[in-house]
Amino acid sequence: MKIVMLTGSPRKNGTSSLLADKFAEGAGEKGHHVVRFDAAFRKVGGCMACGYCKSHGGACVQKDDMDEILPALLDAHLAVFVTPLYYWDMTAQLKAVVDRFFAVDRALTDPPKGAVLLATCNSRHTWAFDALTEHYKAILRHLRWDDRGTLLVSGVGAREDIEDTEYPQKAKALGLSL
Ligand SMILES: Cc1cc2nc3c(=O)[nH]c(=O)nc-3n(C[C@H](O)[C@H](O)[C@H](O)COP(=O)(O)O)c2cc1C
Repeated sequence: MKIVMLTGSPRKNGTSSLLADKFAEGAGEKGHHVVRFDAAFRKVGGCMACGYCKSHGGACVQKDDMDEILPALLDAHLAVFVTPLYYWDMTAQLKAVVDRFFAVDRALTDPPKGAVLLATCNSRHTWAFDALTEHYKAILRHLRWDDRGTLLVSGVGAREDIEDTEYPQKAKALGLSL
C-alpha cells in the first residue's frame, strides 16, 4: 500500500515526529511504502481562493511544493496526518496543505482512501483533542475516506516526555496493523 504522511510540527525532533517515525517503521516492516512530507519544512502557500484550479483541471496558480505533495497523495491509498495541537487544532503549516486539497478534492474522493491521525499536546484536559478530532472527522466525511486509526497523546511537551511511554510502540503497532 502507498502511504502519504503529512506532518505539521516545526520541531524536527519533537513529540509528534517520534510518533511519525514509529508509525512509518511499523508500516515499513509490513511492506508498505511511506512517503513523508514535513509541511513546516516545505514551501506551501495558503489557498488564495482565486478559483483558478476549478477551471484548470486542478492546477494551482501557486507553484510550490504542493506540486509534489498532491500527486503523491492522489496516488496513495492512505493518508497519515501527524500534528501537535496548536490552539486546539492542527498546526497552520499542516492546515495550509489540507486547504490546498481543495484544488483536487473531487479526485481525492475516488478511489476512496484510508486515513490515520497521530497527535500530541501538552495539556491534560479531557477535551484537549475535541476540536482536532471533529475537524479530522469532517475532513474524512467530506472526502469519503475511512478512519484507520487515531493515536492522541496528551501531557507531552517535549520529546523526553513521550520517549519512555507506551505511545511510540502504539504508533508502531498502528503502522503494523495496516
Ligand atoms: C504555538 C503553540 C500552540 C500550542 N497550543 C497548544 C494547545 O492548544 N493545547 C495544548 O495542549 N498544547 C499546545 N501546545 C503544545 C504542543 O502541542 C506540545 O508541546 C506538543 O507536544 C508539541 O509537539 P511537537 O514536539 O511535535 O512539535 C502548543 C505549542 C505551541 C508552540
